[in-house]
Amino acid sequence: MKIKNFCFNKIYQGNCLERMKMFPAKSIDLIFADPPYNLQLEKVLKRPDQSKVNGVKENWDKFNNFQDYDNFTKNWLNEARRILKDDGTIWVIGTYHNIFRIGKILQDLNFWILNDIIWVKTNPMPNFRGTRFSNAHETLIWCSKNKKSKYTFNYNLMKSLNDDLQMRSDWIFPICNGSERLKHRGKKVHPTQKPEALITRIILSVTNPGDIILDPFFGTGTIGAVSKKYNRKYIGIENEKKYIKFAEKRIKSIEPIKNVKFIKTIEKKQQKRIPFGRLIEFNLIQPGDILHDLKKKWHAKVRVDGSIITENFKGSIHSVAANLQNLPSCNGWTFWYKYEKKDSISIDVLREKIRSELERF
Ligand SMILES: C[S@@+](CC[C@H](N)C(=O)[O-])C[C@H]1O[C@@H](n2cnc3c(N)ncnc32)[C@H](O)[C@@H]1O
Repeated sequence: MKIKNFCFNKIYQGNCLERMKMFPAKSIDLIFADPPYNLQLEKVLKRPDQSKVNGVKENWDKFNNFQDYDNFTKNWLNEARRILKDDGTIWVIGTYHNIFRIGKILQDLNFWILNDIIWVKTNPMPNFRGTRFSNAHETLIWCSKNKKSKYTFNYNLMKSLNDDLQMRSDWIFPICNGSERLKHRGKKVHPTQKPEALITRIILSVTNPGDIILDPFFGTGTIGAVSKKYNRKYIGIENEKKYIKFAEKRIKSIEPIKNVKFIKTIEKKQQKRIPFGRLIEFNLIQPGDILHDLKKKWHAKVRVDGSIITENFKGSIHSVAANLQNLPSCNGWTFWYKYEKKDSISIDVLREKIRSELERF
């Protein structure tokens, strides 16, 4: 049965395939899925001191064969595609056991792969038998619904988080442990609880406050916890009641960041246009000031109307920069610097000063 509305900030108990069928088409901004790995563990694995290794041996991770797993994957991904907004994205995380099969199925269903991210674990489990390399990473596949989707990517937020360097596709985080790891009577509640740091980067990179995030394999609710903190709406689906109980308690204890102003980011392309002339009005540049490029090869003087002038060319900060270098176009904001008493300052930095001044209103 299809229902018109669904509730946000709620965990639905049941099989995600059946549950997703009840959700309206094109209603979700982000789907994050951490599906069963199909680990196919056969023997009990022991450490050198003979203690047992807690792998994923739960029934939810058991499939008869690859065909069975592929059918399961096709079915839930098909439904995920139906309920994803046209400009929404999907992330799927997995290991070598399942991620290549999932990648093929994603492409077969016409999802468009934007990146694969490698989550490098700082504290992976050793390969106790010494028969293989220690398996120290998981792979995340990030897809838009179509090649032409206008998906959200908070490029500048990511760059800023990374000390002004473009964020790369190799992400280094420890596995979930310490006080973050949910425990009951000394035992882990869930074998594969994901770290909040990893989920935080995903949520901040591809969603905005108020967006709707679905996790069809909710487990201990890591997506719910981070969504609540950063003012996103979550919907969780989880088969096992025992995990839902812990997830609900966990999410209840999370305090959302109250002042949305601090978590709202405006990407460069959405920012208000500030003409160069505003720098004169704000007294940050004077008519007659000399601008120069980074290497001080070229110079131009500022005119009162916001244009700049060289010996033989007058125009905007962009057209003069392009003319000097014999280029069809050039971004004058990142090209020009103004002499200051000690050092020079980029006019882009001066523009940012005006932006933050104006944003206070
Ligand atoms: C790999 S775990 C996800 C862990 C989660 N990301 C976390 O941080 O706790 C997969 C979860 O999916 C659930 N699950 C497996 N098959 C399911 C299905 N068909 N529908 C809903 N939940 C399912 C399992 O019970 C398990 O909790």
